[in-house]
Amino acid sequence: AQNKRESLFIVTNWAGKFFKETLWDTEEGRTVGLNYFKERGYREDIIQKFELGYSPEAWSALYDKAKAEGYNDEFLEATGLVIRKDDGSVYDRFRGRVMFPIHNLTGRILGFGGRTLKTDKKTPKYVNSPESEVYHKSDVLYGLYFAKKPILDADNCYLVEGYADVLSMHQAGVENVVASSGTSLTSGQIRLIARYTKNVTILYDGDEAGIKASLRGTDMLLEEGLNVKVLLFPDGNDPDSYVQRFGSAAFKKYIAEHQRDFIFYKTQVLLRDAGGDPVKRAAVIHDVVESIALIPDAIKASVFVRECSALLDIEERILIAELNKIRVGQARKA
Ligand code: CTP
Ligand code: MN
Ligand code: MN
Ligand code: MN
Ligand code: MN
Repeated sequence: AQNKRESLFIVTNWAGKFFKETLWDTEEGRTVGLNYFKERGYREDIIQKFELGYSPEAWSALYDKAKAEGYNDEFLEATGLVIRKDDGSVYDRFRGRVMFPIHNLTGRILGFGGRTLKTDKKTPKYVNSPESEVYHKSDVLYGLYFAKKPILDADNCYLVEGYADVLSMHQAGVENVVASSGTSLTSGQIRLIARYTKNVTILYDGDEAGIKASLRGTDMLLEEGLNVKVLLFPDGNDPDSYVQRFGSAAFKKYIAEHQRDFIFYKTQVLLRDAGGDPVKRAAVIHDVVESIALIPDAIKASVFVRECSALLDIEERILIAELNKIRVGQARKA
């Protein structure tokens, strides 16, 4: 099994080289792929650092090259780089896309995300490598290989949604950043972050999906004892579009000024949605206290209770009573 894993690694890393060479050294790669990255505002040093690439617009460019160099069908299929049809023929998974290699903690390539350059609604925006013996999505955070040291230095980790956000933040000089790649956070990913820092700042897209995602998954962060801050971008921006539109200095100023503690953020979002409805407001109070109950540090929890009582305009002792009730329930379950 160790041998097979090693073979898959060799194939994904060979493919990374193929996509990279296609981007820089072919006419199609340069005029289509490289031009796309440059139009989006990415500098060459960033494109190189993240080993970005391009997959040719053809059915079997990668497959043919791989076969010519002696690679096995078995490993090409197991990594998801090629797909076998029922009639036995094979084709490349990634075609005509700009390629984002996903690295493990030692910088080896596990898999890829490929972004289309088309703007129609039919084509899926991203195609990703499937799960394989080397690529377990739920245990990977995009960008962590490049962010390890910066996270330790800053004692903080920015968590974003997408590949592009990681790139643009690096370009802006903010390197302590990883992406969940659009899916909800897993406990494996959280433990990965917790190895480097206890402080996480969630920078999600300023759209409905981003707001929903910022409320999900975060309870897990609290349970792990992490300090969670949240910041949303205005008017449908994400970190990438904000950096590219307003520049690095404005971006840094924005994130410095708009971070909010998760509990307050959650309280505010929920209160906004509840409006004046007393039943809904009661549900918000319950919901917020449930999150506070997840915080292992009792002193920290009591500070949140005090401040949330002001935000919710409700007496502290009522929140404390609610908190104790939930804690008793948690103790019974455990
Ligand atoms: N994603 C995905 N498949 C999709 C859409 C999104 O895997 N069909 C993942 C990608 O990792 C993507 C992330 O979710 O980076 C966030 O999605 P989104 O905000 O829609 O994309 P952006 O990263 O903002 O991409 P871009 O700026 O290139 O449009
Ligand atoms: Mn989005
Ligand atoms: Mn984006
Ligand atoms: Mn986005
Ligand atoms: Mn409940």
